[in-house]
Amino acid sequence: MKDINQFTITQAVKDTFKTEPGSRFEKLLQGLIEHLHDYTREMNLTHEEWMGVLNFLYDCGKISTPERHEFILLSDVLGFSALVDMINTRGGATEGSNLGPFYLENSPTMALGANLSDGREGAKILVHGKVTDTLRNPLSGAIVDTWQADASGTYPIQEQDKGQDKYDLRGVFTTDSEGRYYYTTVLPKPYTVPYDGPVGALLRAGNRHAWRAPHLHYIVRAPGMNSITTEIFFENSDYIEADAVFGVRKSLIAKLSPAKNIDALGYDLKEKADAIVEFDFVLAPEG
Ligand code: BEZ
Ligand code: FE
Repeated sequence: MKDINQFTITQAVKDTFKTEPGSRFEKLLQGLIEHLHDYTREMNLTHEEWMGVLNFLYDCGKISTPERHEFILLSDVLGFSALVDMINTRGGATEGSNLGPFYLENSPTMALGANLSDGREGAKILVHGKVTDTLRNPLSGAIVDTWQADASGTYPIQEQDKGQDKYDLRGVFTTDSEGRYYYTTVLPKPYTVPYDGPVGALLRAGNRHAWRAPHLHYIVRAPGMNSITTEIFFENSDYIEADAVFGVRKSLIAKLSPAKNIDALGYDLKEKADAIVEFDFVLAPEG
């Protein structure tokens, strides 16, 4: 009989899995077992502490619904989502950042120059730029899918009970022959990630806040290119140094400039703007 002890148990557990030798699954599973066992030994975990972890995960499952995925939120506040975004950003391409929980497929298709704000309060901005490849060749016909919070930090999808249309403040644009996209909208404000559940309790236990720096969300895609999921942030905005989900990257911070020279851009805009946000998206080739 094998003498399993606290030092040999890791290999014993790994040996029970008959995975395809050298497969990615084998590597991921064995690495997970090793790291979690090492952590358990290093921390000298007590029964109470381990049950605390398991009950926390149980609570995350219990509060989750198709609309609320508490494990993604946990991954966000612990920096895992950001880390996976960073590892998977292609050289030369725009850095990836949080998808967040408010993305909707099939957002309305919009013409360039459209206004997303639909009479909402707040500072009006022109958002514009180009979609290019990594050699800065413009990508005509690229898709720019965007969604955002309003000037009080709320996504319309969160206020459907107050009569809001969940497809408001979002749209899908196609770049023109020069790879350009442009539209007007309201400047979003900071908002909190949901903190009424176990992840909120974790934030409070760690004396952390739940605020996100204001941002615009994007998925940008073009044929033959790797699509990107990312966010644009604004220079000097609140929480830019302390985003609760570590979404901010220096390369994703856009300048807000006054709109005095807006006419020189030659865009056909449906609404006036007080300020201009310029941001170019760079896509790397597929493969
Ligand atoms: C968001 O950006 O919408 C978001 C991201 C992570 C957690 C909650 C919200
Ligand atoms: Fe968001």
